This record gives sequence, C-alpha cells and structure tokens, in this order.
Amino acid sequence: CLIDAEKSTLVSLCGKVAGHADVTGAEALERLFLSFPQTKTYFSHFNLSHGSPDLLRHGGKVVNALINAAGHLDDLSGALSALSDLHAFQLRVDPGNFRLLSHSIQVTLAAHFGSEFTPVAQSAWDKFIAAVSEILVSKYR
Ligand code: HEM
Repeated sequence: CLIDAEKSTLVSLCGKVAGHADVTGAEALERLFLSFPQTKTYFSHFNLSHGSPDLLRHGGKVVNALINAAGHLDDLSGALSALSDLHAFQLRVDPGNFRLLSHSIQVTLAAHFGSEFTPVAQSAWDKFIAAVSEILVSKYR
C-alpha cells in the first residue's frame, strides 16, 4: 500500500536510524509511557526511568524489528511471523496500543530529522507501522 516515493523515503530513513536504534527506540518508548501511561502496565518488570538499560535494550529491539521489516515490504507477514505469535499468544497486547506506539515513533522521528521528515516520509511511516501492527495483532482470538 506504499507508493514508490514512500518506499524510498522509508528505506532511506531506516538507513539513518540504524546506527541509533537503541536511543531512538528508547525515546519513542519514553514518549509512549509519558503520554499514554496506561501502556506502562505491560512493562511493570522494566526500569522505566529516562535512559535506563531496559528502555535502551527494548527500544533497540523494536526499532531493529521495524528496520528489518522495511527490508521485506513484499513479505511483511513472513518477516513478522514470530513476532506476531509473541504479541498475540504470549503478550496479548491490546490492539489499540499499536496506534499509540506508532504516534510516539513518528514524533521521535520528527524531533530528530526535522524537515527531512517530510509529509511524504510521515505518511510512509504511518502506513508502514499500521501494516506491521495489523500483522502483529492478526493472530488474536
Ligand atoms: C516484545 C516489536 C508493539 C509490548 C517485543 C520484541 C520486539 C517487539 C522486537 C522483542 C521480542 C523478543 O525479545 O524476541 C514490536 C513492534 C511493535 C510492537 C515492531 C509495533 C510496531 C508493541 C506494543 C506493546 C508491546 C504496542 C504494548 C504497549 C511488548 C512487550 C514485550 C514486547 C511487553 C516483551 C518485553 C520484554 O519482557 O522483554 N516487541 N512491538 N509491543 N513487546 Fe512489542
């Protein structure tokens, strides 16, 4: 569902985020927990203070999973199969939370990339994370 211009801006920004996956992800998580405190309930076993190793480690995992998925736009379901099982069967994250995380990631990218995070780039990330989220919640029952 991404047009070519969106795909190229998505892949290009992924390349720039790749070296900073942990800090980018940690900031997105910190924004998520501050703006939507109810999302903290899934992470009661984490140290959620600013810059904590838990935030950096988990933030890195989430962002690297997105970067990996962006490299498999033609087979997102296959690339995300294991993560989909985890979120649906083990974690049982309420699907509404995925929109909140998407928002927090987009704000983080906007804060760091400024004018480079163009309307086309934002649209690309919004669609892309929505597609990833749809797969991660697809096995709920
Ligand atoms: C774990 C990615 C959305 C809650 C994970 C892991 C990844 C990941 C890569 C680590 C899996 C592993 O260690 O094998 C993503 C992506 C998301 C997403 C790409 C959406 C774009 C969410 C949301 C929540 C959530 C919205 C809840 C608000 C969790 C929890 C864990 C987890 C609680 C386990 C953390 C731990 O105990 O280490 N996720 N996730 N995820 N995710 Fe997600």
